[in-house]
Amino acid sequence: MHKPPATFVTARLAARPPSADDAPAVFAAYASDAEVTRYLAWPPYTRVEPLAGFLRDCAANWENSSGHFVWLLSLKGTTAPIGTIGLKLEPGGKTMFGYALAKRCWGHGFAAEALKHLVDWSLAQPGIFRAYAYCDVENPASARVMEKAGMVREGILRRWHVAPTIGPEPRDCLVCARVR
Ligand SMILES: CC(C)(COP(=O)(O)OP(=O)(O)OC[C@H]1O[C@@H](n2cnc3c(N)ncnc32)[C@H](O)[C@@H]1OP(=O)(O)O)[C@@H](O)C(=O)NCCC(=O)NCCS
Repeated sequence: MHKPPATFVTARLAARPPSADDAPAVFAAYASDAEVTRYLAWPPYTRVEPLAGFLRDCAANWENSSGHFVWLLSLKGTTAPIGTIGLKLEPGGKTMFGYALAKRCWGHGFAAEALKHLVDWSLAQPGIFRAYAYCDVENPASARVMEKAGMVREGILRRWHVAPTIGPEPRDCLVCARVR
């Protein structure tokens, strides 16, 4: 199985695997913010403990063969988490991505910087041919992040994704990909 680097740096960011100890900082930075989770698959956390459990699972996934890898992002030279990015290896040579940033860090191109790094890594691996992500059709900032990472809009997946912060019904999503 391909295994991405556990840590990496970009021009402005440093990425590392999470641990349960990060939960209070992640909770405060973005995971409890309903504006951040608005289009995400999970509702805002209201308590630190379940988030610590999630981060513990993310850390364990680095050591098992789940194919799901999550990093915390911080500004280079600092350790405080400002966001997260995840990569999922899928059968048939595909990687799928998700990402979120603390609101105070929106608008600086950070998400695209991290995403481009991991898309570049993916498509440099023998056996990986497609790097893709999807976002809610009403989340144009995320669509733009995908484009800035070199992905191309492919179409709309209708009724594809439930965003519980908005409601229980699946919503239409835009899918973008870069391939080689
Ligand atoms: C989506 C998100 C990751 C974007 O990250 P970011 O680092 O702020 O993104 P950028 O700084 O590259 O800015 C986004 C781009 O979208 C554009 N944009 C932002 N809001 C927009 C809007 N309402 N309409 C059109 N374009 C918009 C910006 O102009 C920018 O494009 P540009 O660089 O060409 O000017 C961030 O807003 C976030 O964490 N949102 C909450 C979680 C989330 O929705 N994650 C994605 C799930 S698929």
